[in-house]
Amino acid sequence: MAAADPASRIAAWQRLSGRHGLPWQNTRDPYRIWLSEIMLQQTQAATVIPYYLRFLERFPTVAALADAPADAVLQSWAGLGYYARARNLHRCAQAIRDQHAGKFPRSAAELETLPGIGRSTAAAIAAFAYGERAPILDGNVRRVMTRYLALQGDPGATAMLRTLWTHAQAWLEQAPADLDMQAYTQGQMDLGATICTRSRPDCPRCPLAPDCAARRQGLQDVLPSPRARRAQARHQCWMLIVECEGHLWLQRRPDTGIWGGLWALPIFDDRPALDAVRARLPCAADGTQNLAGIEHIFTHFRLLMQPMRVRASGPRSVIEALLGGALADPTLASSSRNPAVIPIQAGESAWIPLSQLSEIGLPAPLSRLLLGLYPPAA
Ligand code: ADE
Repeated sequence: MAAADPASRIAAWQRLSGRHGLPWQNTRDPYRIWLSEIMLQQTQAATVIPYYLRFLERFPTVAALADAPADAVLQSWAGLGYYARARNLHRCAQAIRDQHAGKFPRSAAELETLPGIGRSTAAAIAAFAYGERAPILDGNVRRVMTRYLALQGDPGATAMLRTLWTHAQAWLEQAPADLDMQAYTQGQMDLGATICTRSRPDCPRCPLAPDCAARRQGLQDVLPSPRARRAQARHQCWMLIVECEGHLWLQRRPDTGIWGGLWALPIFDDRPALDAVRARLPCAADGTQNLAGIEHIFTHFRLLMQPMRVRASGPRSVIEALLGGALADPTLASSSRNPAVIPIQAGESAWIPLSQLSEIGLPAPLSRLLLGLYPPAA
């Protein structure tokens, strides 16, 4: 039998050995496909599945999502990380409602003009929903192609990406006109996720193995070349949990930066800054408690958070005035480059009832901390 082109082989392999039971498969609904592709951009399928199902229950259509308050969307996203994706998701739904009469555009080129949809995601949606013949190039596909072609060099370099897109396009051009685009597109993702994995490529089961240049040269374990690594930064911050009359004092963070748009505790660069604010709050002698530190790992840095819990003696209006003054004090302003410590605009803070903590958008580590301290009533 003549060796088939790579795309045909991947499509045939997918039909036999790829994944078929994922909740975003077996549908042509662009809303469901789009949502899954955005969630899967930086997160593995197993993690995405429960979020995806809950999200669809809460926002069953693109119209429901567009009309929902931004807070509700962020809350449903909390835990998936990379919150810019959630904000763009909401903006994209609104653009579809306002500029596309509530219907998803039907081509990859038009999809790519929408917020949060890049070239590869646009192609994936168009392939799955409409069968469009457009190439994808997500992280998995980059790894598979880099090995198949035995490409050396920084996998993130612009020149490398250009080369990979050229080959991705060429694979489609070499394939017959009746190539099953759904199977091919899903197959590339499945191959990268289950066979041509980063650390343990399973070449004997790979449909591309006969022509894979890395395999021929024994390079499958060393390609793609490692990215030039910078030492991971570490930051530390102090957080103040102010509890008063069954409420917590929380601040909504600006849209940009870490935890953009989510609710968080007042955060300080150093312990003296936190102590200076706490000292202004009236509370009982045993009303202050240092809690265990929490570490959270972001893509480019680690953050060690040291929470302090203060049970303030009300009324809340007095505590609010004291807090407002203390937090605006310029002598306490951050001077570091700690990404967690950013100025919060006046008016972006509020007393949140303890009973509502599970209903607002909190970053995952703070949600765990606060819901641990204040479990929702059963
Ligand atoms: N990663 C990105 N898109 C995916 C999909 N459709 N199925 C599984 N993993 C994916």
